[in-house]
This record gives sequence, structure tokens and C-alpha cells, in this order.
Amino acid sequence: MKVVILPNDQLVAHYGANIIKRQLADEPRSVLGLATGSTPLMLYQLLVEQYQLGELSFRGVTTFNLDEYLGLSGDHPQSYRYFMDRNLFDHIDIDTAKTFVPDGAMARPQAAAQEYEHNIKVSGGIDVQLLGIGVNGHIGFNEPWSSLGSRTRVKTLTARTIADNARFFADDEYQPHLSITMGIGTILEAKNIVLLATGKSKATAVKNTVEGPITAGCPASSLQLHPSTTVIVDEAAASALDDPEFFKHIERENQMLLARNDL
Ligand code: GLP
Repeated sequence: MKVVILPNDQLVAHYGANIIKRQLADEPRSVLGLATGSTPLMLYQLLVEQYQLGELSFRGVTTFNLDEYLGLSGDHPQSYRYFMDRNLFDHIDIDTAKTFVPDGAMARPQAAAQEYEHNIKVSGGIDVQLLGIGVNGHIGFNEPWSSLGSRTRVKTLTARTIADNARFFADDEYQPHLSITMGIGTILEAKNIVLLATGKSKATAVKNTVEGPITAGCPASSLQLHPSTTVIVDEAAASALDDPEFFKHIERENQMLLARNDL
């Protein structure tokens, strides 16, 4: 696991956007796994800006989002489909038929989940999977004690996650307690994983992800088993790590090697 600690959330977004940019330069027909939540918003803005400057095209790209609220259709303002359309897809040259978000309004969600897995497989698998992280260490909507081998399925949200995400819903608005989410096993099959975390509220989750034991109690700790995961955090999110200097040292070394073209 590569851990990159940067001074602020803007630099976190830039670092993440550059990974996507390099991926699309190497393979314009890439398959990207995308995340919602407030953390990746700045990264999406950067991608839109780079597209507008003509530096990036999404014409050949396919995307799969991690999760969706069960019971919300894509035109509901709190649905993740709506979020992705408004914050990214509406502003770039992607073929919308190649943007997949689990369908939260399907009558048979388990069947929809299996179809989602099938579509990922048929696409050739995810090249870069973007992740945020919940305060309790969840990834996608895989809450603590989700099976580390889980596949796309219906998941109940914890009271903590419902409370954390209540800020996006109006007081009298229906907030779903169920979701449809890629499983941890699904996520771990992505060729590369990029997890972004910013702010003090994520510090314990980041510590457990990076330094903790691999446990279903912190679903993101499963990423320790993945061969190519980059965790990009700001100082606040890194503040509970035992030895942040170690990771900063490695990143300085990596940057030196990169500059000399040795990597
Ligand atoms: C939701 C999403 C996750 C996301 C998490 C953190 O629960 N299902 O994919 O990582 O929120 O959100 P935020 O970035 O707003 O803190």
C-alpha cells in the first residue's frame, strides 16, 4: 500500500486527478470505478476542467460506480446517479450508455446486483477504482463486518452512516437505510485502487486502514492485501498515523526516482 500525505485537500484532488489522467493517456478505453460523497468532488472538478481545456477525453471510457441508495431512482437529487451526472458525466464527452451506476429502483435488486457484476466482467474489469472512506472505515457501502469476499449486493446501512449522510437530505426527506453496493471482493479485483481521505474525521479510519490489522471491522483494511493501492490523504486525515514521516520519506524517494525516470 502506497500512502501519500499532502498538505491539503486541493493537493489530494490534484494527485488523484493526475493518476486518472495518466491512466487515460496510457489507455483511452480504460474502465474507471467511481465513488460519490464529498471527498472526490474536487477531483471531478479538475477532470472537467482538464476536459474543457482539451487535455482529456472520456470518449472511450467506461465507468462503474461503487454504490447507490436502494429505493431512489436516478432522477432523485440524492441518488448517486444524479450526483454523478451533475458533477461529472454532464460536463464531459463520455458516452452515457457506458456509465454504470447500480439501479436503486430495480424491482429485483439482487438480480440487478448480479447483472452489475456481469457487466464489470464483460467490460474487462476495472483499471482504476476510486474510493472514499466512511468514518467507520466503510468503502462503497460495505459497512464494518461485511465479508471481505463479498460481491455486489444489497446492504443495510449502519446508524452511523445514515447519520453521517443525513446532511445531504432535507429534514422531511425520505433517507434510505438500504443500498446496493459493489462488494469488497469486487473492489479488490480492480487492477489499481486509489483511496482519497481528507479531514480530521477520517483520521481513525485511515489509521485502521493503513496500520491496523486486516479485519472486516474496518473494511478498508482489506486494501492491505491489494497489490496496487494508493491512499492519498491530507495532513488532518493522516494525523492519527504512528509514523507519518516514514510515508513522506518514501514518497520523496519515489518522486526523485520518477524525476530521474527510474521508475
Ligand atoms: C458514502 C459513500 C462512500 C463514501 C462515504 C464518505 O457512504 N457510500 O462511497 O466514501 O460516503 O463520504 P464523504 O466523502 O462525503 O465523507
